[in-house]
Amino acid sequence: MDGNGRWAERRGLPRTRGHEAGGQAVTRIVEASPSAGIGVLTLYAFSSDNWNRPLPEITALMRLLRQHLRDQRDRAVANGVRVEVIGRRDRLPAGMVREIAKSEVATAGGTALRLRLALDYSARDAIVQAAVRSRTDPVPPDRDRFTALLGDQDLGRSPVPPVDVLIRTGGEQRLSDFLLWECAYAELFFRQSMWPDFSASELREVLAEFGRRQRRFGAIQRSTSVPRSTVTAFPLSLTRSPVCSTRTSPPRAEA
Ligand code: FPP
Repeated sequence: MDGNGRWAERRGLPRTRGHEAGGQAVTRIVEASPSAGIGVLTLYAFSSDNWNRPLPEITALMRLLRQHLRDQRDRAVANGVRVEVIGRRDRLPAGMVREIAKSEVATAGGTALRLRLALDYSARDAIVQAAVRSRTDPVPPDRDRFTALLGDQDLGRSPVPPVDVLIRTGGEQRLSDFLLWECAYAELFFRQSMWPDFSASELREVLAEFGRRQRRFGAIQRSTSVPRSTVTAFPLSLTRSPVCSTRTSPPRAEA
């Protein structure tokens, strides 16, 4: 979700106003996702490296995220949005951790969209943690098992499907430690729009282009079809597949 700061600076506003506008864009994109065919949406809201930002910006972001969780909870329940937070919790403010738990419990029955907010998240740290867990795991590690270990199964969560679409706004062209394992075959979309300007129609534009891309997964088939989608917004990560399902092998080649 890059571009909040620049969006604000261009208007002569403090960066925190850009984050507020970014929060409104989050609400719009979450609402548009189920009808766009998105089953899993992961939003990179605060990376572990974002702790290096100035303290007033961190404090404002934490306040905003907490408020968003609180304000959007009833709407999420009504719209069948299941909220999950990925990343470390031990460094988040206690009040925020309580809001996260309330949202996760209240929305646990949602089936329209699995919304994952990445907070204090680092893909490399998540991979290291999964590797540590695998050392005491009775099952020999393979790709599927490792994917399960990555997916907070101790919190009773099912693994997420691999990411199909990764969108990064703000003109940046980097992965910045986001879902590195899950994006092994993600289609990447780098958009010039600043995140607060990212709209549902731009999302649908990206998905239409995704539908035109040829995905070969290392093989030579002419085209593939993916049933529904995983998008990741920056990022944003979308998985176009049924909520909570995993695709562990490539789709069959067309005859
Ligand atoms: C990156 O843009 C954005 C962030 C680090 C924060 C993202 C947070 C929000 C959109 C706030 C609301 C989120 C939720 C889930 C309610 P940047 O600040 O680096 O902007 P820049 O690239 O223009 O400097």
